[in-house]
Amino acid sequence: MIFSTRVFTLAIIFVGFSASAIQPFTLQPAQTWLQSESVFSEQKLRESISPPGTALGVVIASPQKANPNYFRHWVRDAALTMQVIVPLSQRASNRRERLRWERAIEDYVRFSRRNQLSTTLTGLGEPIFEVDGTPFTGPWGRPQTDGPAIRAMALIQWANILLDRGQTEKVRNELYDSNLPANTVIKADLEFVSHHWRDPSFDLWEEVKGDHFFTRMVQRKALADGAKLAERMGDRGAAVWYREQSRSLDQALGRHWSTRSQWIRATLNRVEGVDYKDSNLDSAVLLAILRSPHPDFSVGNQKSIATFYSLFDRFGRLYSVNQRFSDLAPALGRYPEDIYAGTDFDGGNPWVLTTLAAAEYCYKVSADSRNLQSRNEWLQRGDSFVQRVQFHAFGSGSLSEQIDRDSGFMTSAGDLTWNYAAILNTAWAREMAQETIQRRALNRKHKRKVL
Ligand code: NOJ
Ligand code: NOJ
Repeated sequence: MIFSTRVFTLAIIFVGFSASAIQPFTLQPAQTWLQSESVFSEQKLRESISPPGTALGVVIASPQKANPNYFRHWVRDAALTMQVIVPLSQRASNRRERLRWERAIEDYVRFSRRNQLSTTLTGLGEPIFEVDGTPFTGPWGRPQTDGPAIRAMALIQWANILLDRGQTEKVRNELYDSNLPANTVIKADLEFVSHHWRDPSFDLWEEVKGDHFFTRMVQRKALADGAKLAERMGDRGAAVWYREQSRSLDQALGRHWSTRSQWIRATLNRVEGVDYKDSNLDSAVLLAILRSPHPDFSVGNQKSIATFYSLFDRFGRLYSVNQRFSDLAPALGRYPEDIYAGTDFDGGNPWVLTTLAAAEYCYKVSADSRNLQSRNEWLQRGDSFVQRVQFHAFGSGSLSEQIDRDSGFMTSAGDLTWNYAAILNTAWAREMAQETIQRRALNRKHKRKVL
């Protein structure tokens, strides 16, 4: 409904005005929409943690229970959500709110430890748990070894906050203890990742078994962060081991760049699973760069930028919806050859979380840029991706997993939790970009005065 009203508005504008007049008439400025959407997203995130009828600490991927059923705890989605909940708890405007988020984190810690202690088909590489805490046992792409790494990253953030508060004993009891075999949640994840990162696993899209840029990037970051935490906890031997493994991962990561195609390749050494990803071009690379910062693959690095442009260009041409509303930045899919449409396999669609990743990426490039012109250009580019998402979103702010490539309607799983985490990451990246622009402008003024 909402969409068709907008299309109607657009049609009128197309007749009367030039295409560049579309945005101000139909869409809010990116900043305004991101602000209200952030409030909405916080609420949705709250609702996705331990909802009625689930075990404490569950993070549902979506409230949708059929076609497709996402009412389950995906280790990856949950950990990506917690990467946002931890900073949210620290940004809380009052004590009550802070305690509420902190309670959610603590429930998640206990639920995760229970997951680790369950007997599953693939040990800690098991990707999904039912909402009662038992492992999902249906046929699936398993193991997926990015999950434990992202979970460790999120919980290391939390452990460091507690250590800064002087709560060392709490950290030792609940999060990181040097004992082996591991009996704490972070230690168990780090031990698993440091001993198994060489094993091929299914990618974050759960389709290809092999060695993936995304999985390796999050594993590297978990081990690098883990080495620092181990040091803080007086576990020196472990710190050395985790650091060694993270360095070996660095070498493996270097092999993903392809000079021939000019992008970072998503997967090497495919073992099984989907075999039609000919381009090896994938938005997962952007997600990796954003969620697990790496000095060799910084946002402004030439390899990252080249990959971004390839995604921009390829998806821009691929989906008809991008051509029809072409004054907005294109909506991005997972990878060009994708055919998964949520309920069926009749063709891939653009996704909300990958389009938001493009926005977040642009904002981060903006904040990293040297000159004002380029900072402004990247900020505007980011805004255009945000407006693309706004354009296809439900008027209520609700965001489904996918955007139909032809009609532009929201499709597949409704209220995808990961989307709302992505909104907050995008909003925070925009804040940073804007602050950088303002700060530099102030500095210049100040310098002029001094001179
Ligand atoms: C469901 C997965 O969640 C999705 O990522 C995948 O594309 C399909 N299964 C097909 O394997
Ligand atoms: C399918 C996506 O491909 C995968 O990345 C995600 O973990 C699940 N859906 C659950 O949201």
